[in-house]
Amino acid sequence: MPAMSDDKSYLDYTSDTEGMSLYLKNQEKFVEEPRESDKILLELIDKAVAEMGKPNARLLDAGCSTSSFINHVAVAFPDLVLTGIDIAPSVIESNRANPALKGIEFREVDMTDMRFDEPFDIVVCNRSMMFFAPELFDTVVQNIARVIRPGGRWIMLDYMNPFEQELIIDDFSVWYPEGNRLHMRSYKTHRESLARAGFDEPVFTPFEIPVDMPKHPDPSQIYTHTIKTEDGRRLQMRGAIYQPWCFLEASIPA
Ligand SMILES: C[S@@+](CC[C@H](N)C(=O)[O-])C[C@H]1O[C@@H](n2cnc3c(N)ncnc32)[C@H](O)[C@@H]1O
Repeated sequence: MPAMSDDKSYLDYTSDTEGMSLYLKNQEKFVEEPRESDKILLELIDKAVAEMGKPNARLLDAGCSTSSFINHVAVAFPDLVLTGIDIAPSVIESNRANPALKGIEFREVDMTDMRFDEPFDIVVCNRSMMFFAPELFDTVVQNIARVIRPGGRWIMLDYMNPFEQELIIDDFSVWYPEGNRLHMRSYKTHRESLARAGFDEPVFTPFEIPVDMPKHPDPSQIYTHTIKTEDGRRLQMRGAIYQPWCFLEASIPA
């Protein structure tokens, strides 16, 4: 196992073409049927659109990858105006070439340095914040705040825990032989960072997955599996790590 490095950044993850292609292969199964967490994100988008009374709202999916999620958004909400961004040029190229994604704008943009001429009503970050080191997290939150119009909303799914505890985990596996650095931040860190960026009080909703996911028989394959608790809830594991998946909703005051 390589030594832990002090200077790991989100660029290690996004430039790891082998890890990325394994990830993309794994995503193919969500093209037809949205994953359970995507279904809840669709409900949160539905709620935001209804509250805004704006069926043709502009929505940005930041860190869209292969776009299985934004495609489900397009099908569920045909009037929304959709943009997907990702730092990985290969996924942007393949999204642009995919006829199923026609009508969605795709741009190669780094969330640490993003600007748009026109603000969005809704920004979604679906598991794309966990790669940012603490010193970049604030910058990205501020960039997101800047591209949302007053009255607009940020909806995200990421690792968030209710304790005042910040976890940084280097996850070495056959998928990521050089290590994949994951940040699991507290609600408090999110609350403070969002307040500095001008968001109102965020709402945190832990993701309770409604289905059992079996452990892969090959221990080298680090797919999510679930463990049932005594009260019937399911813990979502990434190999040996418990993943505190949580939804966040926050608005920029009108
Ligand atoms: C775990 S994947 C999630 C992809 C997708 N949202 C989904 O739920 O399937 C994280 C994505 O965020 C993208 N990403 C990471 N850092 C980024 C950055 N600085 N700017 C834009 N995209 C970034 C990665 O390239 C990757 O496609």
